[in-house]
Amino acid sequence: MSIRVGVVGLGYWGPNLARNFDRLPGAELRWICDQSQEARERWAPSFPDARVSGDLDELLEDPELDAVVVATHVPTHAPLATRVLGAGKHCFVEKPLAQSVAEAEQVVAAARKSGRVLMVGHLLEYHPGVEKLKSIAESGELGDIYYLYSNRLNLGKLRPDENALWSLGAHDVSVLLHLAGGEEPSDCQAFGESYMQPGIEDVVFCYLRFPSGLAAHLHLSWLDPHKERRFTVVGSKRMATFDDMEIERKVTVYDKGFDQKFESYGEYVTRSGDIWSPHISNEEPLRIECRHFIERVADGGEPRSGGESGLRVVRVLEALQRSLEGSSRAAPV
Ligand SMILES: NC(=O)c1ccc[n+]([C@@H]2O[C@H](COP(=O)([O-])OP(=O)(O)OC[C@H]3O[C@@H](n4cnc5c(N)ncnc54)[C@H](O)[C@@H]3O)[C@@H](O)[C@H]2O)c1
Repeated sequence: MSIRVGVVGLGYWGPNLARNFDRLPGAELRWICDQSQEARERWAPSFPDARVSGDLDELLEDPELDAVVVATHVPTHAPLATRVLGAGKHCFVEKPLAQSVAEAEQVVAAARKSGRVLMVGHLLEYHPGVEKLKSIAESGELGDIYYLYSNRLNLGKLRPDENALWSLGAHDVSVLLHLAGGEEPSDCQAFGESYMQPGIEDVVFCYLRFPSGLAAHLHLSWLDPHKERRFTVVGSKRMATFDDMEIERKVTVYDKGFDQKFESYGEYVTRSGDIWSPHISNEEPLRIECRHFIERVADGGEPRSGGESGLRVVRVLEALQRSLEGSSRAAPV
């Protein structure tokens, strides 16, 4: 039998989720919901088989609804997800899980209490390119991973209730933790500036260190001439990139690094060898993510980006936010 899903929030992103759940085998889009009449009128014709509502409670009262997808703006994530789980429905909530660790913990506790599936929409964890990068890193092909950095830049959509750290950085932190294989950073720093809206950083630079020695840098910006969505991993043997702006060469491995010269002990020479790009499936990552949710609802398993995983992302984002706000972080010149 199909898993019956309701999607709440029909702004920019929610209709993409509704489209995927509408088309997925094993899922049925039973409800679409938005408090804005304009959004309801705009999207109802695209999903003629779904019921339409302006009130989440109407969905929660439907005994035949299995799961609710929360795609509303970020401050509402934790309260709405808690309500969904409290009503005994499975919950997919868009990233980030919450705006604070305290709120994220409440949602995770609500999921535990209800025994329902909680999954956070950390889309890149389902991207075949990220999967490939992770498997290359784990195979030892790159050697020891020294450091990685990400660039998420655009002349982008300014959000009134979220800075670039929380809006863009939620993606990079989730991938970073995914690639770090469960290790969490020991310390982090963030610097940022608010050029367009007072008090809302549109440009943020982050630096994180892990107990294993791994270091990471994130450059997040809505105020940039370039559109970049790229991760670079630098290892002791090779280097690799995941570049989501590339059509065909999403992942590239560079046989570049330093070799030790045996004749003269202690000297290093640079090596600049082959560059190759493995094949990456072009299945839409959002479809893979939605299918993963339906499968976990069906088998009751823990999703890849489940509540605990979403909580770890929020913990790192909150630590970075504290650093961003701290005044004693920089040395005077
Ligand atoms: N995974 C991704 O790549 C990705 C991309 C974009 C946005 N997002 C996430 O999707 C979410 C939505 O972003 P957006 O850009 O679509 O926002 P948006 O502001 O365009 O849309 C939000 C919609 O939610 C509705 N809404 C708010 N509270 C509601 C409530 N209580 N009941 C019913 N409807 C309600 C609003 O009326 C609005 O139409 C955010 O969490 C964002 O982080 C994820």
